Amino acid sequence: MNIDARYPALSDLKARARRRLPRFVWEYLDSGTGAERARHAGSAALRNIALMPSILHGEITPDLSTTLFERAHPLPFGIGPVGMSGLVWPDAERHLARAAATADIPYTLSTVAAQTPEDIGPLAGDHAWFQMYPPRDETVRRDMLARVRAAGFTVLVLTVDVPVASRRERQTRSGLIQPPRLTPRLMAQVALRPAWAIGMARMGLPRMRLIDSYAGDTSGLPSTAHAGYLLRTSPDRAYLDWLRAHWDGPLMVKGVLDPADVPMLEEAGVDAIWVSNHGGRQFDGAPATIHQLPLIRAATRLPLIFDGGVTGGLDILRAIALGADFVMMARPWQYALAALGPLGLQHLVHILAADMRANMGQLGARRLADLPGRLYPSPAG
Ligand SMILES: Cc1cc2nc3c(=O)[nH]c(=O)nc-3n(C[C@H](O)[C@H](O)[C@H](O)COP(=O)(O)O)c2cc1C
Repeated sequence: MNIDARYPALSDLKARARRRLPRFVWEYLDSGTGAERARHAGSAALRNIALMPSILHGEITPDLSTTLFERAHPLPFGIGPVGMSGLVWPDAERHLARAAATADIPYTLSTVAAQTPEDIGPLAGDHAWFQMYPPRDETVRRDMLARVRAAGFTVLVLTVDVPVASRRERQTRSGLIQPPRLTPRLMAQVALRPAWAIGMARMGLPRMRLIDSYAGDTSGLPSTAHAGYLLRTSPDRAYLDWLRAHWDGPLMVKGVLDPADVPMLEEAGVDAIWVSNHGGRQFDGAPATIHQLPLIRAATRLPLIFDGGVTGGLDILRAIALGADFVMMARPWQYALAALGPLGLQHLVHILAADMRANMGQLGARRLADLPGRLYPSPAG
């Protein structure tokens, strides 16, 4: 099969993923919260950013490399955290970590992943990031940090945009509960998706294994109030200070939208800011991340990580043009994995890099640093 001819874009992988996933898994992965305005308007806003092509610039071999936390990265994108990705595809976290190591891109393991840091850290290569949902209990917190460090994770990401659980109505309607248990209703959905069913029969249904190691058995909770919520707190500035004092590697805060928060984050000594609205899964009134990115760029010299609705290489260029140093994607990798298994991940790296190169050629951009100069209309006027 010529995979490039059959699946030239992420949209092709997404369509195939939808055909292969049971409804409740698709709804978990694809949905936002509320009327899903933040999710859809955010993607539309990103796609509305125009860049000016360039002519007569001669031959160009675009350089996609960048540096983050004093480490060279051949590509300016990576894999963002997704809780319970083991539900999307059997053993997802292992496949994601291995694909990241092969492509030399970051993989971010979620606190509420289906695999533990000990299982995943050794597979994730040189850029293993750990995303923390903040444990309330200090003993748990200390232990989690020690485990994550010992497992080889070098970067800590504190997610701050989940102060409370969100409603995620589509997910609730689909009948999903945590940890996943096949009720007759979900069985009926699974029966229509044999590839997924066979994989899960082999692996068993996933659980949040890191959380389980602290919380014990928490069966039967609704999916929006899972075990992760029993353990975690809504952090404050003192919490961030504590974390800064106890993590000696790069620390970033994920879920920042307001430039007014930047001075506090700088004062707390974070190493990077991750501009995100959690893919529209937490607060449907949130602004588009691509609108907030240039405002936050203007407020700080810290590295900025961007996510939200990226669908291809051109979207990555748009975010970099507006001030991002690095671009993360969450759902796209899960679509790719569900569509084609591990091969899908490799293929998505190829799609994104090839799309970046093609569009940088149109823009006459030799390096990522040339991109802000191609914004249209130019912010300089
Ligand atoms: C199914 C799903 C689970 C997620 N789980 C987490 C998580 O555990 N921790 C976290 O910080 N963000 C989580 N996110 C948010 C993503 O990391 C990301 O911020 C968001 O989806 C926007 O990126 P995207 O548009 O590329 O999906 C999750 C998103 C999805 C879709």
